[in-house]
Amino acid sequence: MTRLPPNELDPWSSDLIQDYRRLVEQFGLSEVTERHLEIFGDAPFFRRRIIFAHRDLDVIAEAIRSGKEYAVLTGIKPTGEYHLGTFQTVKEFVYFQRKSESALAVFAIADIEAWEDNGQDFDVSRRVAVSNVADLLAAGLDPERSYVYFQSREIRVQEIAALAARGITLSTMRAVYGERHMGLYLSALVQIGDILLPQHPDFGGPKPTIVPVGVDQDPHLRLTRDVTAKLRSKWGFLEPASTYHLIIRSLLGDKKMSKRDPMSYISLRDDEELVRRKIMNAFTGGRETATLQRELGGEPWRCVVYEIAKFHLYPNDDRELERIYSECTAGERLCGECKAQIVEELVREMREHEKRREEVLPLAKKIVERASERQPLYKLT
Ligand code: TRP
Ligand code: SF4
Repeated sequence: MTRLPPNELDPWSSDLIQDYRRLVEQFGLSEVTERHLEIFGDAPFFRRRIIFAHRDLDVIAEAIRSGKEYAVLTGIKPTGEYHLGTFQTVKEFVYFQRKSESALAVFAIADIEAWEDNGQDFDVSRRVAVSNVADLLAAGLDPERSYVYFQSREIRVQEIAALAARGITLSTMRAVYGERHMGLYLSALVQIGDILLPQHPDFGGPKPTIVPVGVDQDPHLRLTRDVTAKLRSKWGFLEPASTYHLIIRSLLGDKKMSKRDPMSYISLRDDEELVRRKIMNAFTGGRETATLQRELGGEPWRCVVYEIAKFHLYPNDDRELERIYSECTAGERLCGECKAQIVEELVREMREHEKRREEVLPLAKKIVERASERQPLYKLT
């Protein structure tokens, strides 16, 4: 199979991204500046520069400032539980909804993509989605201002995908995604439908929309922005805005956290013992011996354990994170004790999340049931 040239992003691969700076230049992303932090600095992932780039974030900032309506949109392939990689998007999704009372949150359950990419049947997707939606609610999503749907059941998404397809040639698809089977190309078209759904006439028409993603999803956004111009004459669509976060590495530091490999990630459903075992075996920036570590200091910038803390722990205490970093580089902290601290904090956070999740599980079931209803069958007489 002809794959993408080495410098292109592949949204369906587990490879690690090496050079974020180059991506910003190559794909014309905009950088997050101090000025953005004045508005978004209440979010740890902005302060910590986990979100390192964006497109049109200022449009959203302006909507927030003026109280104007906007949408935030994301989706998940329901092929498993959220893990510390995919959950990053959930936090951003909820944040952008909570940031303004005029924000609508739209959530795509990508059951078409789950079939095309993973061969997973729709009814399995329906089951797994309950758990995914419960995690959204437990993360603080306001169900009153949310719309949750299955790609296979949302005719308006398919309507937009069909409209968009006419403007896209096969050679464009090859250039963006490499030579792939039709199912993945179809998923990409459907994802255009997802991203523009909040602007469908049934949702009140054109509005600023922010799509927070891991930077590996940018090909979908580039394609969507390209076809938006072509669809504008019909429905007046605006280009979607987006934010890009760093991709958290797998526990062994060599790949992305990927649902295809359970030992690469920590799932929100892993029990305490498993979390402990995974962290204890994780790749660190430590030295071969304790003596060397005291002498030379560790390398937290290479350390997956530090990365997990940076992404997910001490959300209101940047100082603690800085302390870990500087004690590590100064050789005042050894990996054993450091891991023990981080395991304990992570397990505590996960336990709290689990408690909230139990409370919202019945609501998640109801939301998924409603979203999976078939279109009514109309009789001719
Ligand atoms: N492609 C995404 C994934 O691999 C899921 C997804 C579907 C999505 N539609 C979306 C993400 C729209 C962001 C926006 O998990
Ligand atoms: Fe990572 Fe902590 Fe070891 Fe430093 S001391 S390398 S931060 S595990």
